[in-house]
Order: sequence, then structure tokens, then C-alpha cells
Amino acid sequence: MIQWFLGVAALAAIIYYFCIKPISYWRERGVKQNDRPTWLLGDDWKFIIRKESFFEFTVRCYNQFQGTRYYGIYESGQPTLLIKDPEILRKITVKDFDHFTNHRNFIPEEADPLFGKNLFFSKGEKWREMRPILSPAFTSSKMRTTFVLISKCTKEFVNHFLKKNQKCIEMEMKDTFTRFTNDVIATSAFGVEVDSLKEPDNEFYLMGKEATDLGGFGIMFKFIAYSLVPELMKFLRITLLKQAVIKFFCDLVDNTMQVREKNNIIRPDMIHLLMEAKKGVHHKEENSDVNTGFTTVKEADLESLRKWPSTVSTDRVCTKPYTIEAMNADEKPLHIEKGISLMIPIVGIHRDPKYYPDPERFDPERFNDENKGKIDPFTYMPFGLGPRNCIGSRFALLETKLLFFHLLSHFELVPVEKTQVPLKLSRKTFNLTAEKGFWLGLKRLEK
Ligand code: HEM
Repeated sequence: MIQWFLGVAALAAIIYYFCIKPISYWRERGVKQNDRPTWLLGDDWKFIIRKESFFEFTVRCYNQFQGTRYYGIYESGQPTLLIKDPEILRKITVKDFDHFTNHRNFIPEEADPLFGKNLFFSKGEKWREMRPILSPAFTSSKMRTTFVLISKCTKEFVNHFLKKNQKCIEMEMKDTFTRFTNDVIATSAFGVEVDSLKEPDNEFYLMGKEATDLGGFGIMFKFIAYSLVPELMKFLRITLLKQAVIKFFCDLVDNTMQVREKNNIIRPDMIHLLMEAKKGVHHKEENSDVNTGFTTVKEADLESLRKWPSTVSTDRVCTKPYTIEAMNADEKPLHIEKGISLMIPIVGIHRDPKYYPDPERFDPERFNDENKGKIDPFTYMPFGLGPRNCIGSRFALLETKLLFFHLLSHFELVPVEKTQVPLKLSRKTFNLTAEKGFWLGLKRLEK
């Protein structure tokens, strides 16, 4: 009898400590949270079992508890503080940045070099060292050199379709543009020239696809396992990406550096900057206030990135304890412990009618000269905020503009039979993409 009793007590303790206590973290600290987050997983279970897209998950979380400045959620069992208030966003991303210097990384650096060591996931001192080394690759003056590399890819891309000599070429745009982006990254970051439309199965493309495709159940399972039992995953040496992918990119960088070193080759790309940094040569970072590149961004671009920010949400990790002082009657000072994650729900804020009236409407006029001054600070963030914002924003805008400039000089984009109307979001991946792909036709312009 006593054994039976002890067994039940042990089981109850296990359930309490592993299932119930973790999802009571916020309640215990007087922070609002969902009444019944799902055991073990928390609030994102619908996304995990593919019942909603990551976009829908983020908007749903953001819209809970109207009127609060922040509240607690659980992502794959981990307590996360969702921030809604622009003033708190300003503090954590800019004013008090040194309390929140890192992005969250489920995957420990030693467990997966490609994931753990990239700039997005680099932490503290490593990030402080790396960011100024890479920043010169993205300044306005560097974009002039990059312009030449991207233009070459763009012309090849458009020529590929011009040669087809068809009135309307039907294609899935995500795949086609991914190939283009792949070629652009290959040339401007790795110094490798590939044509992923002509050679659809080139190794660089296939490996890049593997490395960025975060949609499979296998990857999702590894993410959850890393967040629940990181030590066990580390011990089992389970990497997020396949060993072959990691080896391919590491070898590529090593070999390219060796060949350049030996033959004194200088090419205006990122490998060159890394080689210079290794030798101790640091390029001065250009003042980013001068010609930020955004001066050329048009209202329609800004509105596209408001309505459809391709990075649906971003995050920060508390690296030094921090207190959010109480402001409203229902708040107490909230002490955030080191290690706690904060969610910045980009799409939630971009679609909040308080900041963007009639938010579902695509209206570039929100950003015209007369209206743009009315947009509240810290409510527009497609490329994130503060010192940890997107390093590649100019690059991304330049690449997109060049592609569309060349493409639309020869073709019109038209809906085809396979075009999904209305478009539904994919539930299979963190990435913002369409359930049935983006099928469109390239219709040749009569000249
Ligand atoms: C439309 C395209 C893009 C969008 C919407 C986008 C958006 C973002 C966002 C929201 C973040 C997080 C910022 C934060 O937490 O405050 C980020 C970080 C980052 N992005 Fe982008 N990005 C884009 C394209 C690119 C490109 C083309 C590159 C590189 C060539 C790039 C490289 C990075 C890096 C390295 C970081 C991490 C920066 C750091 O932690 O210091 N992004 N991006």
C-alpha cells in the first residue's frame, strides 16, 4: 500500500515539476497569462501540430489581453514575455540594450556551428566582435559594388525567361526567387558564381535549401527537444542541420580563403572582409545616418513590409536582470530574470488598428510625406530595432528592387489557374509563405 502511495506521490511530483510548474511561471509573478496553456508545450501547440501558421500564432498571441503593455506566454514550454508597448520596446531594444543584447538561440553554439555561430545567434562579446567586422559589407558605399554583382545575376535571371520565347511562363515564385537569391548570396557572400535556373540541382543551391528549410517535422522536433532537454541533445551530439550541409559550407569558406590567399585574389565580397579581419584589418563602419538607403524606399515598399513583414516576430534575451516599472493600475514592477526571452511580435504591432487604422487594407498612402510623420515611433519594424536590427536591410531592398526593375521591364505578372485566391499561409514552417505556393505567370510585354 505504502509503495502504491509513494508511486502516486512521485508521479504527481513529476507532473507538477515538469508539466504544471513551468507553465505557471508568469502567474506566479503576477503577470497575465493564458488560463490554460497546454502542458509541456504552452501556447504554440497549434503551430507545432500545424493547425495554425506562425503568423497566425503571433497575431493571436498579440491580440490576447487588450490594453496590457506586456504579458506572459509559453513557447515550446519556455516562458516568454510578449511586449506590446512601443515605449517598452524602445527601452529594451535601444535605451537599455545592454540588458538585452542577445537573440534567443535554442541551439547551443557547439551543437551546430552553422546555426550557433551565425551573427543572428551570436551572443555577447562574440556578437560585439563580429557585427563591426560584417557591417562594412552592408554600408551604402559597399552597396555600389554589390550592385554590380546583383545586377549580373538579375540580367541572367531575366534572360533565362526571355530565351523561352513563350507568351506566358507559369511558375512558382517562391522557388524561382529562392534560386535567384541563392545565386546572389553565392556571389556576394561566398564568391561563387552559380546559375540555379540553368543548373537546378547545383550543390550550392541544394545545400542552401537544406540549411534554410526549417519546415520539416524532424527540424521542428529538434527545436523542441533542444528547448526541453538541451543537455541530452548536446550529449547525443545531435546537430540541427545534417553533417553534410555543415561540412559543405565550412569547406567552401576554408577552401575559398586558401585559394585567394595563395593566388592573391581580391574580390569585393564577404569572404574578403573575413580574411581582412583575420589579419587584423578592420574597415571603419560608415556612419549609418548618412544615406541609410531608406531614402530611396518608396511608400509601396514600406506598406508591403508593414502588411507582410517576412520576419513575423523577433526576440531578445534578458542578459542582465531588468525591471519594468509599473505604470498602470493593474501592474506591479516586473523583475525580469537573466535568461528570460522577450517576444517582439512585429506582425501584431503592424496590424494593430491603434497604430495603422484599417490594418488589413494595403494602403501605401500611410507612408506618404504628409502621413508618415503620424506613425508612432517603435511601431514600424520590418527589419527589427536598435543595435541588433537587420544588418542586411539595404542589401535586401537593393536586391528586390533590381530584380523587379529588370523583370517588369520585360514582363507583367499575371494570375494563372494555379494561383490560390485568396492566398492562405503555410502552416508548415516559421517562414512567411503560401500554403499552395505563389503561382503566377510572366507575360511578355508587347514592345
Ligand atoms: C526583406 C528581407 C529581410 C527582412 C524582412 C529581414 C528582417 C530581419 C529582422 C526582423 C531581424 C531581427 C532584427 C531584430 O531582432 O531587431 C533580422 C536580423 C538579421 N538579418 Fe535580416 N532581414 C531581411 C534580409 C536579410 C538579408 C538579405 C541579410 C543578409 C544578407 C540579413 C541578415 C540578417 C542578420 C545577420 C541579422 C542578425 C543581426 C544581428 O543580430 O546583429 N537579413 N533581419
